[in-house]
Amino acid sequence: SFVNGNEIFTAARKGHYAVGAFNTNNLEWTRAILKAAQEKNTPVLIQVSMGAAKYMGDYKLVKSLVENEMRVMNITVPVVMHLDHGNYEAAKECIEAGYTSVMFDGHDLPFEENLEKTKEIVALAHAKNISVEAEVGSIGGEEDGIIGEGELADVEEAKKIAATGVDYLACGIGNIHGKYPANWKGLHFDRLKELADVIEPPLVLHGGSGIPQEQVVKAIKMGISKVNINTECQLAFAAATRKYIEAGKDQQGKGYDPRKLLADGAQAITDTVEEIIDWLGTPAVK
Ligand code: G3H
Ligand code: ZN
Repeated sequence: SFVNGNEIFTAARKGHYAVGAFNTNNLEWTRAILKAAQEKNTPVLIQVSMGAAKYMGDYKLVKSLVENEMRVMNITVPVVMHLDHGNYEAAKECIEAGYTSVMFDGHDLPFEENLEKTKEIVALAHAKNISVEAEVGSIGGEEDGIIGEGELADVEEAKKIAATGVDYLACGIGNIHGKYPANWKGLHFDRLKELADVIEPPLVLHGGSGIPQEQVVKAIKMGISKVNINTECQLAFAAATRKYIEAGKDQQGKGYDPRKLLADGAQAITDTVEEIIDWLGTPAVK
């Protein structure tokens, strides 16, 4: 069933492990993520960006797709239905649509406005038992039109945003959306420590794809409880689909049937999600 994110991530921070937040894009993605979480018997967060929701239809459609897949697949693990990098309007729409968690990403607003709008979203969401993620500093790179400079989160600003009552906080610590450049300097652990020392809510690591495993594990030990993954699943899907076609399997029998053509790619997403759940140390539910 759908649960809000608060309990899951608060327990994760206390237990020094993380729970994965995986972006969905379509039916295959949704099913592949749910399948992995069920096989691992761990909680999972399925998130949709504004761009992916538009591609799929709208926020309501995404929620009903996830909900109906959970029913058909007999999913028993806790699932959080989350809006990823939402603007003010999108966050409000998802609160209306019954998401159990929303991210309000105000990183591109003047700080005072980010703070005010975060407060408003927290009030609206909490009245319906929905969790809220906010952002301080910014995530470098680009994801679905969300562009960031990669500025480090300011500790004083992070404290002010945390005081609004947000349930978890995304902070810029040198992380980047999409592929990491060859000259990337790694996560900024000093800033993460300064933040984790004074910020009580669980911290969120965006741009989780392509960070060396040791760095992710170290960040989790220091207070990261939610790790966002999108690109890694896209790369796995694309590579497996390419392999299928390059092997000529689409030419054999009814290999061109989309249910066959996309099956290896979907399985590659499931395998990737399962591997990531292992490194995040997400414990199985009882
Ligand atoms: O919000 C989603 C994530 O931050 C995904 O980043 O595509 O680099 O894994 P990624
Ligand atoms: Zn992100």
